Amino acid sequence: MNIQNNIARFEAEMATVQRPGMDKLMEFIRKSDFYTAPASTKYHLSCEGGLLQHSLNVLDALQNILYFAADNKYFYNVAGRSHCVIPSDSVTITALLHDICKTYFYTISYRRARKPGTNEWGDVPYYTVEDKMPLGHGPKSAMIIKQYIPLTSPELYAIWWHMGFTDAADTLALSGAIDKYPLVWALHSADMMASHFMEDKTDNKREFQYTEPEAPGIDDGESGGEWADAPAIGGEALTDAAN
Ligand SMILES: [Fe+2]
Ligand SMILES: [Fe+2]
Repeated sequence: MNIQNNIARFEAEMATVQRPGMDKLMEFIRKSDFYTAPASTKYHLSCEGGLLQHSLNVLDALQNILYFAADNKYFYNVAGRSHCVIPSDSVTITALLHDICKTYFYTISYRRARKPGTNEWGDVPYYTVEDKMPLGHGPKSAMIIKQYIPLTSPELYAIWWHMGFTDAADTLALSGAIDKYPLVWALHSADMMASHFMEDKTDNKREFQYTEPEAPGIDDGESGGEWADAPAIGGEALTDAAN
């Protein structure tokens, strides 16, 4: 994980959204612990910068669930047919901000335990919840965002219900929201993909980890050159389509 890189990408993605109040929203985000908070106390990305990494993971997952069309629009296809059209700024806002409720939410406590990787005992830090604004989860995210920028109805519903049936007291209302605005289900799916398939406890899973860009080298003719990435004849492709 590269937090500085993630901050730069997050800011660049947010800068593509043209909406009144974006400057105030970014001010809130930069002053808060959004860039340093974990994504959870112990389940996924329980580490500094985890919330930011998770938000970017959800964006990557959501963009890949959808099919990009021209004019900053995505199609949400179902069984090979376009079910609805989703503007790209809705994709960016819902993915990157769905968990903004986790700002001012975690704190670091200490417990007496063996220090990781040693036999030494001492005060070991761990994340715990200290919710400074106890207003729930999805609805709280929607409320925080709406204090700064307007949200379209699909965006509002998607962020509100992004936990899906895992956190829904009123399943009938959630079911109605999914029918009304399919982005609700797309965002929930992307959130599940990120937390279950892309993320480990303290970093992304290996295939989704940040890698330093390689310095351009000289082709010595022995490393395979341009043929290194070619599929083996009669075998499987060497590159992973999931990336
Ligand atoms: Fe969430
Ligand atoms: Fe999430």
